[in-house]
Order: sequence, then structure tokens, then C-alpha cells
Amino acid sequence: FLVTWDAQAAEKGGYAHYMQKEIYEQPKAVRDTLSGRVTEDGTRVVLSELGWTEDLIKQIDRIHIVACGTSYHAGLVGKAAIEKLARIPVDVEVASEYRYRDPIVSRNTLIVVISQSGETADTLAALRNAKALGNRVLAITNVVGSSVAREADDVIITWAGPEISVASTKAYTTQLVALYLFAIYLGQTLQTIAQDAVTTYVRELQALPQKLDEVLQSAPQIEEIARAFAVWDDAFFLGRGIDYYVALEGALKYKEISYIHAEAYPAGELKHGTLALIVDHVPVIALVTQDELYEKSLSNIKEVKARDAYVLGIAWAGDEEIAKSVDRVLYVPRTLPFFAPIMLIAPLQLLAYYASVARGNDVDKPRNLAKSVTVE
Ligand code: G6P
Repeated sequence: FLVTWDAQAAEKGGYAHYMQKEIYEQPKAVRDTLSGRVTEDGTRVVLSELGWTEDLIKQIDRIHIVACGTSYHAGLVGKAAIEKLARIPVDVEVASEYRYRDPIVSRNTLIVVISQSGETADTLAALRNAKALGNRVLAITNVVGSSVAREADDVIITWAGPEISVASTKAYTTQLVALYLFAIYLGQTLQTIAQDAVTTYVRELQALPQKLDEVLQSAPQIEEIARAFAVWDDAFFLGRGIDYYVALEGALKYKEISYIHAEAYPAGELKHGTLALIVDHVPVIALVTQDELYEKSLSNIKEVKARDAYVLGIAWAGDEEIAKSVDRVLYVPRTLPFFAPIMLIAPLQLLAYYASVARGNDVDKPRNLAKSVTVE
């Protein structure tokens, strides 16, 4: 018994749980996923594993991203990135829906499946359907040699390293990095982004690990907030634009390991129903990083504050305005609004982690859930 315990403790590298360890591994995981994928002078993205010609890229008229769970949430951010940088229309769908609904797929639709494990049954089935139709399938996966990696036409590996905790953390972050690289790669080839923009994106991507290290330093503050939030049976995550996609992932983390009811809403949709649930002191986590939506987000925060919610804002360092509208602020280092998910997700993962710990749950093995869902 003791030996097992020691061995496990050693594997966790001094952390209390795998999830905590994996949250802290994110700066390295991001660095590893970027490694070798940009030119030394930082002016181009190189995805030599794809070996795609310019002609092939020009033929892509549509992209369908298909995935489950956290990987699906990464896909939503991927859609925003690809549409912005490459101007190719992207649809994102959960695999268990996509595979059964006879989607309209043109000959030049590229199917992108995202799967940490590369073994999720529904994602694999969607891949096989696409291949049967003769479509090209690109897999973004963390496991070299997984079923998804073997069966796809092309693979981008996320170098997150083994992820043990059921709740996905570093896999998500590296999926985002892979999708950003892919979006820039498409945009630079299609010339939908100017060269100086490519250089800026690459430089900002390379600065992310350092900034993530800084974000993780707010863990003690987040622990204190999580303890207070954990006595509540609900939590609401709000955001607009890309912030909403991160809110979805934040709410998933929170519910799956703390067992607290958590929902994410596009902030502008509040008044269409959810506002009825906002009561005195209920925790609301508001993500506010999208500059062009800033004023809109503030007015949504006022709507929940008017119902006496307790609002934790997560915003860019230096944003003093936000502090006037919320009860508590967590600041994250500024990057391009576009890369905000990488900065926002770490505090949300830590919030879920500490809420789970406060509730005395089995953090790494939440009830009813499996790391890899290989059956339907
Ligand atoms: C399970 C895991 C999630 C994961 C999802 C998809 O539900 O608990 O963390 O996001 O499967 O898994 P995949 O390996 O395909 O990314």
C-alpha cells in the first residue's frame, strides 16, 4: 500500500492531484506544441507534417470541425480563428450529433476531427463516415498511433504529454495552439493575412508560455474565491465572442469536478431567460477580453449586478474600468484578443480545481465520467 502511494505521489511530482500538475504543465505543453512549427526568424508557420500544396489548400471551400467534450470547445475557438484568418467558412459540431445527421459535405469540405485520446467512439465514427464519402480528414490529437491518428489523412499532434486527470486541461490548451497554427498556416498560404500580421501572431504565440506562467501565479487568490463559490449550488459563466467559447469550457470544468450546476451563456442572451436565475450573491464569472465587445459586456455585467449577483470579472491587466463594475477582478497578461482563451482558461481550471477540493471530491476521477469514451 505504502509503495503504491509513494509511486503515485512521485508521479504527481509533488502536486496533490494530476489535474493540478497538468494545469501547471501548460506553459511547457504550449512551448512543445509550438516547437519546430514556426520558422527561426518568426515570420512563417511551418506545418511540414501536412505536406500540403498551395493548390490543395486553395481547394478547401468549407471546414467541418467535429469533436466531443473539451475538444469540441477547442473547435469553437478554432472556427473563430480559421474564419478570421483564412476566411474559410467553418462549422463545428459535437460528433454524436454530426455522425447521425447526414450533413451536407461538398467534395472540397475538409473534415477536422479533434480528440485528445484519439479513441473517442463518436469522433472516430465521424472520421470514418467522412473517409467513406471520400473527404480529406485532418486529425488534431495528443496520442501518436491512436486510432484517429492512424485513420486520418493528416495529423497534427498536440505535444501536451500524457494527460491522466479525467478533466482535460493541458490537452485543451495545446489543441488551441494547434488550431491557431493551422489558421495562420491557411491564412499565410491564401494570403488572407498580411505578412506583418503573420509575424505579429507568431511573436504573440511564442510569448504565451511566459504569460501563462504569470497567470498561474494567481492560484492563491483563485483558491480563496473558489472556496467561497463552492458553498453555492450554481455558477454562471458569461462571455461574448471568443470569451463565450471559453465560458463553455470553464463551466464544463466546473460542473464535471465540483458537481456544482454550472452554465455558460453568451452574455447578450441573458435577458432571454437566464436572468430569471440570477439571485442575491449567486456566483457569476464574467470574461471580458474582447475589446470590440467591451461596452456590451459591461452592460451585461450591470444587468446581473442589478440582481445582486456576486461577479468575478476576468480581464486584461491594466483594465481599471472593469473593477468599478464587478465585485472582484482577476487580471491576466494582455495578448491579442484572439489568443485570450489561452490566458482565460488557466484561472477557470484552477477555479474548478479548488472548488472540487473544497467539496472533498475525487478531483482526478469525477463520478460517472471516463477519460476516454470508447463506447457509445
Ligand atoms: C471525455 C473526457 C473529456 C474529453 C472528451 C473527448 O468526456 O472526460 O475530457 O474532452 O471525452 O475526448 P477526446 O479524447 O476525444 O478529446
